Amino acid sequence: MAKSTVEEIRERFDNDVERFSNMDTGQVSTIDATISLELITEAARRIVPHAKQLLDIGCGAGNYTLKMLEKLPSLDCTLLDLSKPMLDRASMRVTASSALSVNLVHADLREAALPENGFDIILAGAVLHHLRDDSDWETVFAKIFRLLRPGGCFMISDLVIQESELMTGYTWERYGDYLESVAGKEYRQKVLDYVAKEDSPRSVTYQLDLMKSVGFSQVEILHKNMCFAAFGGIR
Ligand SMILES: C[S@@+](CC[C@H](N)C(=O)[O-])C[C@H]1O[C@@H](n2cnc3c(N)ncnc32)[C@H](O)[C@@H]1O
Repeated sequence: MAKSTVEEIRERFDNDVERFSNMDTGQVSTIDATISLELITEAARRIVPHAKQLLDIGCGAGNYTLKMLEKLPSLDCTLLDLSKPMLDRASMRVTASSALSVNLVHADLREAALPENGFDIILAGAVLHHLRDDSDWETVFAKIFRLLRPGGCFMISDLVIQESELMTGYTWERYGDYLESVAGKEYRQKVLDYVAKEDSPRSVTYQLDLMKSVGFSQVEILHKNMCFAAFGGIR
């Protein structure tokens, strides 16, 4: 099956702003979303306690930035998203928070022009699984490394696969059971169909190896539950 184009992904998220605007109910299709959000933001606070500059890639309606601001209230926040309606909502919510400043970048994360050595914390919530081939992943991870200051961290919470097809199949089955328990068989099928069409996740091990190969000095796994994980790297 041909995967969604960037334009199709943008269009879907343009029409899904409400769902991503609620920190508590917004992410029921993600196993342990609340735990992962807490873990990566708290880890970022502990790794860079005097952080000043935050970049949230694929910020959606701003949930990850808002959570980060609960831990470190005085941050200059750069919000990046493909979808303008998402970015507008994130801007509204983050501007009304304790952020020192809000800078908006409406762009594909592969192409966005951002300052090297410009950020202490980079968050990526449920966005990297939209990257496609190896060169996409390699280019983006190398770019994120350059955007960080030394000692800064890149924290990810995302959909992931396993190393083997056998185990990946097992995790999709468990994920399907989870979705069915949340909202029934039709919901299970609907979510699994859009994952098949839209997403191309990689394993945690692939991403940690890639982080090391582009220069991250340390990598950390904070949480993993079947096909969802929270992890990151320190420059
Ligand atoms: C599943 S939502 C997650 C939003 C937010 N991080 C959260 O967890 O609430 C993914 C977001 O990533 C954005 N996105 C997808 N591909 C992108 C890309 N290549 N560059 C920038 N943003 C992208 C979408 O527009 C969408 O807002």
